Amino acid sequence: MDTVYSSNSSTTPSSLLFLPLPLIANLKVVIIGAGYVGAPSAAIIAIKCPSVSVTVFDIDRSRIDAWNSDSLPIYEPGLDDLIRQCKKQGNLRFSNNESVVALADLIIVCVQTPTKRFGVGAGHASDLKNIELAARMISRVCASTGGRPRHRIVVEKSTVPVKTAQTLKIVLNPSTAPGNRRPSLSGLSTSSSPSSSSSTSITAVNTFSVISSPEFLAEGTAVADLEKPSRVLIGGDDTIAGRESVRTLAALYAEWVPLEKIITTNLWSSELSKLVANAFLAQRISSINSVSALCEASGADVNEVARAVGTDIRVGPHFLKSSVGFGGSCFKKDILNLVYLFRSYNLHEPALYWESVVKINEWQETRFSHSIVSRLFNTITGKKLAMLGFAFKADTGDCRESAAAAVANSLLQERARLHVFDPKADAAHMFEELETSHQISQSTTPGLNDLFVVETDVYACCLNAHAVIVTTEWPMFKKLDWARIYAGCIKPAFVFDGRNILDHSNLSQIGFSVHAIGKNLAVEAAMHAHAAAVSAVAERASPQGSPLKKGSVGVGGGGGGGGGKDSDDADFKSLNEAVARVLDTTTVELPLPPPSI
Ligand code: UGA
Repeated sequence: MDTVYSSNSSTTPSSLLFLPLPLIANLKVVIIGAGYVGAPSAAIIAIKCPSVSVTVFDIDRSRIDAWNSDSLPIYEPGLDDLIRQCKKQGNLRFSNNESVVALADLIIVCVQTPTKRFGVGAGHASDLKNIELAARMISRVCASTGGRPRHRIVVEKSTVPVKTAQTLKIVLNPSTAPGNRRPSLSGLSTSSSPSSSSSTSITAVNTFSVISSPEFLAEGTAVADLEKPSRVLIGGDDTIAGRESVRTLAALYAEWVPLEKIITTNLWSSELSKLVANAFLAQRISSINSVSALCEASGADVNEVARAVGTDIRVGPHFLKSSVGFGGSCFKKDILNLVYLFRSYNLHEPALYWESVVKINEWQETRFSHSIVSRLFNTITGKKLAMLGFAFKADTGDCRESAAAAVANSLLQERARLHVFDPKADAAHMFEELETSHQISQSTTPGLNDLFVVETDVYACCLNAHAVIVTTEWPMFKKLDWARIYAGCIKPAFVFDGRNILDHSNLSQIGFSVHAIGKNLAVEAAMHAHAAAVSAVAERASPQGSPLKKGSVGVGGGGGGGGGKDSDDADFKSLNEAVARVLDTTTVELPLPPPSI
């Protein structure tokens, strides 16, 4: 355990962590929810803390069976290896039997909290049904399994609205609800138990501390994020039990995370920080995506703008990649939840501000789909379009809230025939996302199986297509044989790069008409042609080598400013006339595009 503290206050561990932390040997951890967060988190705790036993419980039997098999239910780089190592080490198991929950000292709740689809707050608020069910199950199972009543720590890891822990506390400790008598704490087994001085009851009951520790891992990099987290956030009550519960969880993480990366806060700050963190990340993407439209209109290049802006250390380079839109099960859900919270507290202006982040995202998806239709001569009815990528990002098979599905929806409304290839997302998840987020199913869209065809071969996907549309940034798409794809396409053949990952210059040379987010490739090509023409003129003017300094000449006379006797007005005038002639007569090769950020 790291006990050497830095004197720099920004890297000093929270004051709660200064005293020696509780011992965690033989701790029993149960994680509820075997999804994208629960299972990888369990695996990392198990591998890093060999003396701790970790059990993952899920009510879905088939999901548990899949985790127990050799074919895991999710794709996450490095996870299958990690799970194999844990199973070999012997301290990680997956179970569908809820009685395992009663054995736990520490219960980590990782259930889904999707956006409510009906009732009060529908479309914005989080559906907390799974959270409450988990709490009721914990309470019931711990009470019914017998044994001496004791104290347990429940960790809220699911992303939840601020104050959810209050509900959990009441469900888990019903006698603490307003109007009820306080519980007896006589069954507590550790010194971390809350003080019983205010207790008047002598009946022994199980008690629970509730703390919050939201997860910040991203899909596709989950294992690396868990192994070296940017921070671990733990929020708890400022009571003896609250503080000791925070310290117990901190002790677990401290087995592999430096103490200065463990931040402790009060419960509500911890819950809220998760929503705000996701909102800030999504807001950066919507900001750069809004700028991408201006880039396309003006001839600026969104990658260049992002690099210029992100190089400022105060802004930073991350999450400034313009795209067809952010997706995933978290960003939209969490921002809408935040918006709902603002409104619940009558804070309408900030609610509008954050809501616009989601609106810009939807606008970007629609803008991209509309540009496809308009460039394909305003009709795509019956045309085969190849869509490359359906997962919401690379390195995952997860299609939830994927921008690709939103684009597919728009194109299907126009009666296009979509052929879709994704290296990891499977057809079942694609159809599920089309139905869940866009109400596209066999019943709403007769003939869907002919209009939306999932391909397993990328070249077959593109064969006879009018356009190839890149919607997920899978690195393999950069390495495709684009000349082969072009040869098989209907002409004129189009590429729409919704992720800015392809070599646009190369594609243009092959013969594609190329369109990319945040770039006006026609303006770019004209500018390159112009630059090439300028140097051709300079070469002609001086057969022994150009006397003009590179980049010192601008058509129109005002630019550049290379200075010196070579750049006087007469030279510019004759140069401009010559450039105009060269632009008329010279075929120029496009140079390579600028490096991407
Ligand atoms: C996000 C956060 O990054 C995690 O910190 C958080 O823990 C997680 O949500 C969660 O709440 O569970 P995730 O949704 O898995 O993680 O993936 P991200 O890498 O954040 O990407 C989200 C979307 O934004 C993807 O569609 C991605 O392609 C897009 N994106 C990302 C961009 O369009 N541009 C960028 O510059 C970055």
